[in-house]
Amino acid sequence: MEENKSTKSLVLNLLRKNGSRFTSGEEIAKELFVTRAAVWKAIKTLEKNGYNIEAVTNKGYRIIEENTLPDRDVIIAKALSDAEVEPFLKNVDLMVYDRVDSTNDLIKTYANEHPGQDAIIIADSQTKGKGRRGRSFYSPEGTGMYMSFLIHPEVGLDKAMDFTCMIAESTTRAIRKVTGLDVGIKWVNDIYYKGKKISGILTEAVTSLEDGSLTDVIIGIGINLYEPYEGFPEDIKDKAGALFAKRDGANLKNNLYAAMIAEFYKDYMLPEKYPYLEGYRENSILIGSYVKISSNLDNERLTKGYAKVTGIDDDCRLLVKYDDGREEALFSGEVSVVKY
Ligand code: BTN
Repeated sequence: MEENKSTKSLVLNLLRKNGSRFTSGEEIAKELFVTRAAVWKAIKTLEKNGYNIEAVTNKGYRIIEENTLPDRDVIIAKALSDAEVEPFLKNVDLMVYDRVDSTNDLIKTYANEHPGQDAIIIADSQTKGKGRRGRSFYSPEGTGMYMSFLIHPEVGLDKAMDFTCMIAESTTRAIRKVTGLDVGIKWVNDIYYKGKKISGILTEAVTSLEDGSLTDVIIGIGINLYEPYEGFPEDIKDKAGALFAKRDGANLKNNLYAAMIAEFYKDYMLPEKYPYLEGYRENSILIGSYVKISSNLDNERLTKGYAKVTGIDDDCRLLVKYDDGREEALFSGEVSVVKY
């Protein structure tokens, strides 16, 4: 096992060093003092780990790696090319970083320094990505998309969670549009693909101490575009998934960021034309299924019961019917739901 692991990284280093040049299996074997069979095995393992390796008969192998860093100018140009949202987006400040602690935290600092200004922060990786309920959100470089929106809607605190549902819906729409993949929403704020969570959302609200009104809303969304090279960490590997098994040579990240921004602003600024709850219901994977409901008291999970999901109401609450016939409308913070 160990032997194979080190051959794998040596082959990877060699292919990277040779860039666009093809390297034959024989050459690799000679240079690394291993057998041709060991080279072949290492190539197969690298492919399984998500590396895009081109193999051509009589030429050998080369690795295809694109610069996957998001590009601010490209994202802005693409998002602004959507005429419906251009009037709103041209006033939004967009910042793109290689690496930050957390885009949600950074945009909070930005909000303090730029009162009233709407903004978006994108990062290619986060060192302290935050998840819900104080958990961390795994955000390694080159594999995911991490973005926070800062908006200033004139609504009460009770409406803050609506934005969570809104972005779940607009992002689902954007992913479907750009990739054609059949992603769905798991109430309340996760996006799933092929039974695995590929995206999470963390909404944070800042309120005024004077009148308790909502001053800033920060909506952070993370997407696992590709599987991390070394796989997902042990604690999330059963639940987490990615949109693509292999890295893509196309400008996918920029296209997806631009579409996510444009689609979100449609729901946010043009609610008559884009009633997000309709799309949310349509793309919701829980409606009609039988679920286990547990309450989260002090982070302890207590099973509340088993029920059939009958719908989602206008406040984005999950409507359920328990086995004993009782019906309930569930708020997001109160319960978690496991498809059963
Ligand atoms: C969850 O599923 O628990 C929510 C995950 C939210 C992750 C995103 S990534 C961008 C933004 N910045 C953060 O630190 N967290 C959110």
